[in-house]
Amino acid sequence: MVEKLHVDLSGAPQTMLATFYAKALDADLPNPILGDRWAKEIVDRIDYDWSKTSITTANSPSVTTRSAHFDNWARQFLAVHPEANVVHLGCGLDARAFRLNPGPGVEWYDVDYPDVADLRRQLFPHRDNYHVVSASVTDPSWLARVRPERPTLMIAEGLTMYLTESDGLALLRRIVDAFPSGELQFDAFNRLGVRSQWMNAVVRRSGATLYWAINGPGDIVDAVPGVRLLAFQSPFDSASFRGLAWFYRAMAGVMSLVPSLRYMAQYHRYAF
Ligand SMILES: C[S@@+](CC[C@H](N)C(=O)[O-])C[C@H]1O[C@@H](n2cnc3c(N)ncnc32)[C@H](O)[C@@H]1O
Repeated sequence: MVEKLHVDLSGAPQTMLATFYAKALDADLPNPILGDRWAKEIVDRIDYDWSKTSITTANSPSVTTRSAHFDNWARQFLAVHPEANVVHLGCGLDARAFRLNPGPGVEWYDVDYPDVADLRRQLFPHRDNYHVVSASVTDPSWLARVRPERPTLMIAEGLTMYLTESDGLALLRRIVDAFPSGELQFDAFNRLGVRSQWMNAVVRRSGATLYWAINGPGDIVDAVPGVRLLAFQSPFDSASFRGLAWFYRAMAGVMSLVPSLRYMAQYHRYAF
């Protein structure tokens, strides 16, 4: 029998166990949203009490609809840019590079803290043109490892809220300055989302703190020279949400009546 990997994380790195487990649970459903077979295979190789994540099949769609949404945006970018970089920041154990399986023209960089990056290296198979980078995304030096002079897609799913505003904006500016063109695709929480973090079981149980509240595209366009808004959406308006059971859509319909609830979580997409 293969020995399981023991995992002991806290703070922001721990939160990726919850998003990962949501994908593993989803993959076992008769009609999965994301259908991530890597999460399904890998979950049994990790020694962890998954009940500590607070994730069940009832709340997993909040994660899997988001991942399906960002898969869709990333596919759109890669369809137009077959020769490109993808920098997937705060990747956790997400298998996006494997789900999307981009062609040989794409260099893919999965970036996360060293503990998480080490775990990835042990759990995922080798891929050509694929790199796992151990770094804090706020450390400017990791960018030197990425191929310059190519269109570059930055994906940051479930990351921005863990950064301070000044670190987050500096990161976006650094990426825009480092490459000739590309896109920034990320999700965010508004002020209400950050203030109500005590209600977020995943964040609370990990001991992490949320800092950066983004209240709309103006916060980005005004602060990051050279970006142009392509899309700004509530998760409730995403195509990936529309396929959910009626009770999720009914709840979203009610929440959408109040703008601060409708945009408590947000999907942002910019060109540069
Ligand atoms: C909520 S999890 C999301 C994981 C993955 N993107 C997903 O959706 O499944 C947040 C991730 O961001 C990472 N993270 C937070 N702050 C970071 C930083 N400054 N540098 C690198 N990774 C960071 C954490 O380690 C964790 O893996």
